[in-house]
Amino acid sequence: MVQFDHLPSGLFMQSITLKRPDDWHIHLRDDTYLERTVKDAARYFGRVLVMPNLIPPVTDVNLARAYRDRILAHAPDHFTPVMALYLTDATTTDTVVAASQSGFTPAFKLYPAGATTNSAFGVNAVEAMFPIFEAMQKQDVILSIHGEVTDEGVDIFDREAMFIDTMLTRIVTEFPDLRIILEHITTKEAVQFVSAASAKVAATITVHHLMYNRNDMLVGGMKPIHYCLPILKRDIHQQALIEAATSGDASFFLGTDSAPHPRHAKESACGCAAGCYTAHAAIELYAEVFQNEDALDKLEGFASEYGADFYRYERNPDTITLEPLAWQVDESLTFGSDELIPTRGGETVQWKVTAGERS
Ligand code: NCD
Ligand code: ZN
Repeated sequence: MVQFDHLPSGLFMQSITLKRPDDWHIHLRDDTYLERTVKDAARYFGRVLVMPNLIPPVTDVNLARAYRDRILAHAPDHFTPVMALYLTDATTTDTVVAASQSGFTPAFKLYPAGATTNSAFGVNAVEAMFPIFEAMQKQDVILSIHGEVTDEGVDIFDREAMFIDTMLTRIVTEFPDLRIILEHITTKEAVQFVSAASAKVAATITVHHLMYNRNDMLVGGMKPIHYCLPILKRDIHQQALIEAATSGDASFFLGTDSAPHPRHAKESACGCAAGCYTAHAAIELYAEVFQNEDALDKLEGFASEYGADFYRYERNPDTITLEPLAWQVDESLTFGSDELIPTRGGETVQWKVTAGERS
């Protein structure tokens, strides 16, 4: 709902009230990091799908239950973490059955081994997982995919498109009833694939892939803050993502992939940890993107409805309100005993949640 309120000056102030949004892809990490990550995510998200790439990874329902309890210890009432399980070469059909029965583990996350942060335990040969996909299809458990090939010979900017061509097309053909989410899409090829696929196939879109392209990361010097996987692509891809997110197509919904790393791991002389931290301002940043496209009326579907529908949860019953009030993001945040540089740190965000926040 978009409301227009007249200010005394005669200017318009446009606030937006949305059903409480959910984040269908987030990294909360563990232990002392949870204080930061859970507080930020719970400020306005109702549910979050928590990624399982801890070390060791969260591979079964019992590990997920224990992890969920550690998260809930830091959470305000009504915040609902739902858990993705980590698919490995050793995942069994019994684990799939247990996941479908638990009520809080709706998805398995497929990381091709070596594709991204903490993916060493991931899947070495996707075809070898087909019996598990069969079980997931039967049990109606969601397959959530980090869609990049890992062959060293494939250029990093081509890895998502190559995964779609060589692997995703096959999985979708072999398992037409399996619900699949292509996570954090970054290319026009992914947008086209998901738009053309059946309603069983969806995609999450991060706010950093909507706000930035590879020039933002590379021109004038490499900026570690923007280094994430899949890597930022050229502007035509960014434009395709913006169009998809603001289109009102229910196949595309919100997943921040907020993925914090301590400053020393991102700004290191050798190597840079992949991941952008956006949970401190995610819905406000998405609102900026949607406003720029004159599409604020499409934000509620993308942020609060299509994801819940795909996961078959009730849409959240309550609301949050955002107003066009500029605020400055802290340059750096406390992150356990480390420092965390948030996306937009030290800069201004144009929207602010003014009602519905939880702490
Ligand atoms: C994520 C992380 O740090 O856990 N990093 C990232 O660049 N997105 C892993 C992932 O989702 O790929
Ligand atoms: Zn992720």
